[in-house]
This record gives sequence, structure tokens and C-alpha cells, in this order.
Amino acid sequence: MPRKILVTSALPYSNGLIHIGHLAGAYLPADIYVRYQRMAGNDVVFICGADEHGVPITIAAMKQGKTPQELVDKYYKTNRDSFEKFGINFNNFSRTSLPLHHKTSQEFFLALHKKGKLKEKEIKQLFCPEDKMYLADRYVNGICPKCGADDARGDQCEKCGSWLDPLSLKNPKCAICGAEPIVKITKHWYLPMADFQPELETWLKQKKNWKDNVMNYCNGWFKEGLRDRAITRDLDWGIPVPLPDAEGKVMYVWFDAPIGYISSTKEWAEKIGQPDLWKDYWQNPNCELIHFIGKDNIVFHAIFWPATLMEVGGYNLPTQIPANEFLNLEGRKLSTSKNYAVWLPDYLEKFDPDLLRYALAANLPENKDTDFSWKQFQKCNNNELADILGNFVNRTLTFVNKYCDGIIPPAKNISELDSNVLNEVVEISAEAGELIDSFKIRAATAKVMDIARAGNRYFDSAQPWQTRKTDFEACQTTLNICCRLIRTLAICFHPFIPFSSDKIWTMMGLDGNPSDEHWQDVAKEIDLAGIKLGKTEIIFKKIDDEELQPEIDRLEKIVAEMEQKNNVEGITLMPQISFDEFGKTDLRVAKILTAEPVPKTKKLLKLSLSIGTEKKQVVAGIAEFYKPEELPGRKVILVANLVPVKLRGIESQGMILAANAPDGLSLVTVDKNVPEGSKVS
Ligand code: 2FM
Ligand code: ZN
Repeated sequence: MPRKILVTSALPYSNGLIHIGHLAGAYLPADIYVRYQRMAGNDVVFICGADEHGVPITIAAMKQGKTPQELVDKYYKTNRDSFEKFGINFNNFSRTSLPLHHKTSQEFFLALHKKGKLKEKEIKQLFCPEDKMYLADRYVNGICPKCGADDARGDQCEKCGSWLDPLSLKNPKCAICGAEPIVKITKHWYLPMADFQPELETWLKQKKNWKDNVMNYCNGWFKEGLRDRAITRDLDWGIPVPLPDAEGKVMYVWFDAPIGYISSTKEWAEKIGQPDLWKDYWQNPNCELIHFIGKDNIVFHAIFWPATLMEVGGYNLPTQIPANEFLNLEGRKLSTSKNYAVWLPDYLEKFDPDLLRYALAANLPENKDTDFSWKQFQKCNNNELADILGNFVNRTLTFVNKYCDGIIPPAKNISELDSNVLNEVVEISAEAGELIDSFKIRAATAKVMDIARAGNRYFDSAQPWQTRKTDFEACQTTLNICCRLIRTLAICFHPFIPFSSDKIWTMMGLDGNPSDEHWQDVAKEIDLAGIKLGKTEIIFKKIDDEELQPEIDRLEKIVAEMEQKNNVEGITLMPQISFDEFGKTDLRVAKILTAEPVPKTKKLLKLSLSIGTEKKQVVAGIAEFYKPEELPGRKVILVANLVPVKLRGIESQGMILAANAPDGLSLVTVDKNVPEGSKVS
């Protein structure tokens, strides 16, 4: 029985271009998964669209001197085209500014309202007296109340990742004009998330095979206790709240965006002339719902969205949320504002889509952040695509052209060597399929390359360059088997590098398209003898250093600029203190004795430290930057006279000093020969 699967990729905001971080997070893995599931005979619909509301859009429009509509029109087209050129094979790429989406979202809002699921509250909100508007989310900047970063946005601090209430910002400023906002009263509608928490927790507990990052994140939220969440905003861009007393109010972008998955499915169903078919994917309990996202979207997809669906009722809940971690670039975090990224349209002007598809697939941040570098890209192309896959295809087809007039020869006597390799690749392809099905796409990429490795090994062992002279029938058999292996490769590589797989298929003179083949049919005995090869060519050319240097130079230049900027203007000093005040801080050199992760947290490590005469236990937020095993023996600076606090139930008897480096925290350490307990002043 074929499975029915609805796959979605996070709707990208229409305020910027797509970059490699987006691709590695939510788009490429989803596309590989979808292509595979289709070839496995399942009924899959792959949905996406542009997220066109929200403050990021209006702010970007303002900066570019455009209306929000002009801005989203521009990015919608560019991003849709980039995805297409990159081979991301959505069934539909919709837009949340369409009337169909507005209508669907308003129906959702009204359904919740009618069922009495929304809370109406009068609240205090920041208002800019100059611009005469409420400063929702990113319209206000200030000092983060949690970590002290001076560039926190109203909704979130990028430095420490905390979600913020704009009113909690210290020293708030209007993001448009810099004026100091005043506080005014306004009315909003809320999802009372605390009421939904028990049901959500029960639902999530049943998810046995979900990724740790998703489960840990949600459990963290549950532990803190869910709070009311506003789903409306005072803005003039967005979906109007469909209630009589809601003049000037629109829906919060994170309320309407996921509903975009449904509207996009509706649009798809309309386009194919079966307007009711969307229900078969959203309201049929036999359909699986898979949301591919990046880790910054976990809370929205695993908590708020399922809550909305549960409370409206009648819709499927997510079956899986394979959230990926982040992809870094040349060892640093991507930054769209600083242009520190590889943008898809730029990439596509210079290189083939498949090379990046392969390099990213081989290095997906599935369980931890990974790094993309141009050198790794070059290695993937030169050492794997060209030297392993390309080489096998090329050497086989060259032999067929040269010694068999370009016609695939017959296989007469199948030896053990021949049947072994055929069986081996059937096994590998089945394993690769299982890996993709369980969202281990990175491992599946390596597996599929093993088929080409097996092909090369077989070619080397069978030695057709010898048998050509000594036993032409054996040579023909070898080449016949190699051609079968190439067909298998074209099929199994199709989800990863579809353009090259099509090319290989055509070079082999095969009919149709590899994507029309069934994954399981790789196992079928197919004799290709007699087929005339198409025009053959080298599929993967080596990329030399000169070709990549401009890309590396561009990024290095941005890094140099960022560093210079940090040096020149990045420092705002805190208010002065007296010597006496500073003197109250007891700083000591402390040696780290042990370090272990704090269970169910991502950021915390429990450290035991020695300051000579006594030991101290400290819970430090450094787990994302240091592995526990690299810490024992290091000498750090401990604030030794802080009042102990409990973090996640563990007593922390001080704080260790760390610098806020651009890439994260960097411990302040001292030379090994400074005795433990030495005073630092
Ligand atoms: O983070 C983002 O880019 C959001 N635009 C993702 C939205 S996903 C969905 F809910 F629509
Ligand atoms: Zn202002």
C-alpha cells in the first residue's frame, strides 16, 4: 500500500534571497526525501511558498524604499526561480499575500474565536510618538535584559537567543527613527498556551523517533511553562483580524505562516483541477505530515502550530519535524545582514546546482552545526563526484564506445564476481533508501557513493582492458554489468543530483527518466544489451583553485570588514563604578577538574573547579562552544564570591569569565603554572 505523505519546507520570508544555510536546513533535505519517496512508489505532495507578512518584511521594504507589496513581489519571483533552478521540486510554491491564504487564515482565526479558544487582553505596548505607531517585534531595539547585548530586537536577542517581550528591553529605541518610545495601552488576542500544554505534552510524549533537538527544545519550553501568546499585531501589513472590534489589527506572522502550508495545498489542488483534494492530505488521518525546518523554527512547528491545529480540530498533526541544526560558512556563523553568506542566485551563475546539492547533502547539519567551506565543496566535486562517480561512468562508457561501437554488449557467462557486485549494489541501494526514509540523508549520500565505489572496484578486478584482448566475451559481460551499475547509479543518485542523473540516463541511451523508475526496481534483472549509447561527455569537471579564489576572497573581505567595524564602533561601555565597588569581586584562578553536560539542556555544562583549598561547582553556559572532554586541566578565572544560585536544579557557586567572541563564548584562561586560588585583580 503506498504511503500518503505531505511534505513541507519552511516558507522563506520574501525579504531576501535564499542562501546555503536555508538550503541545508529546510529545502535540500526535503527535496531529497520527496524525490526518494516518489521513487519508492509513495503518494507525496511537496508544499512550500513565500512568507510575505510580518515586521521583517515591512522593515526591509522601508529600507529599500519600496512598498511591502513591491518587495515581496520581487523576492517571490527570484526565490521561486532559484529553487527551480536548484532542482527543488515543489508541487506548489505559493504566497501568503494571496487572497486564498488570507481567507484560510481568517477561517482559522474565527474558528478559534468561535470556540472560545482566544483570550482578549488590553496590554501595554511601546509606541513611537514620532512615527505614530506601535512598535511590534523588530520595530524596537534595545539592550537585552538577559545577556546585556546592546542590539537586541523587540522579539528576540540574536546574541543569547532569548525570546523577549519588547517591554523588557532596556533603553528601547524606535527602529525607524531612534526616538524613545512611550508606553500605550492596546488590545490583542492571545492563544492561552498554558491551557493547551497538557494536551500538547501528551501528544509529544508519544513521539518516539523524533530528533533530540526537537524534543529537548520542547521539553525546555514545557518545563518553563507555556504562557499566553499574542497572535495579533498593530500593523498595516498583514491579514486583517476578521472581527468587528479589530480595526487596524492584523495577524501575527507566525500565526498565519504555517497556515500557509494548507493554503498552498489548496492552491495546488485548484491548479490541478481537483479543488477538494487538499483535504486528502490534511484531513485524512492516513496521511503523514512532515515539516522540514531549521532549528530556529522548532518552537513554532512543534508547539504553537500543533496547538492551533488541535484547537481548531479536524486537521492532521505533524508526524515528523526533522529540524536541522545550522550550517556555518568557513568557520563562522552566516549573517544575512553582513552579507556573509553564499546566495543561491550568485552560486547558480557560476556553478552547476548538483555540485552544491551534493556538497551540502554530504555535510548536512542533521545532528550538530556543520561547516561549509569552498575547499570542502571543491573536495566533494573533485575527489568524489569526479573521481569516483564520474570516473566510473566515464571509463565504462569510453570502453563501450571504443570497443563495442557504442552499443551496450551482451552479458554471456555471469561469474561470481559479476553477480556479487550486482547483489552488493542492490543491498546498498536498499540501505540508502532506509536511511533517507529515516531522515539520515547525510549518511544516505555516503551510501549512494558506495555504489560507485563498488563499481570502480569491480571494474578494476574484472580488468576489461585485459579481457578485451584475451577473452572478448568476458570483457563484454563486464561492460554490460558496469552499464547496469550505471543505471542503478542514475536511479539512486537521482534524489541527490537530479540534473546529473538525468544526464547519465541520456548518455546511456535509456528511455524516459530515472525519476520514473522505482527505487526497488534496482533489484530487477534488466538486460541493457543492444542499447545504443547517447552522446557521452565528462559529467563532472574538476574545479581548480583559481575558480574558487574569488569566492574565498569575497568572504575574507567581509570578515575583515566585520572585525574592523567591531574594533571601531562595537563597544558601548557600562556605567562607571568605583574602585571599592570593583574590589568587592573576588576573582580567583580556578582549575577545571571535571566537566559534564547538564541533562536535557544544550547550553549548560556542570563544572567542578579547584581553587586550591576548596572546590566549587559551577553551571556554565558554554556547552555549545566547548566539549566537556576538552576542559579538565584548564585554568580559568572564577568569580568566587557570588551568592550561589540554582540552574536547572543544580547549585552554581560562581561564574567563570568568558569573552563574547563573534563566534560564541571564549573562556578567559591563564598560564598553567599560575597556582590555583591565586587572586586576580
Ligand atoms: O524563519 C522563517 O524564515 C519563516 N519565514 C519560516 C516560516 S515557516 C512556516 F511556518 F511558514
Ligand atoms: Zn520612531
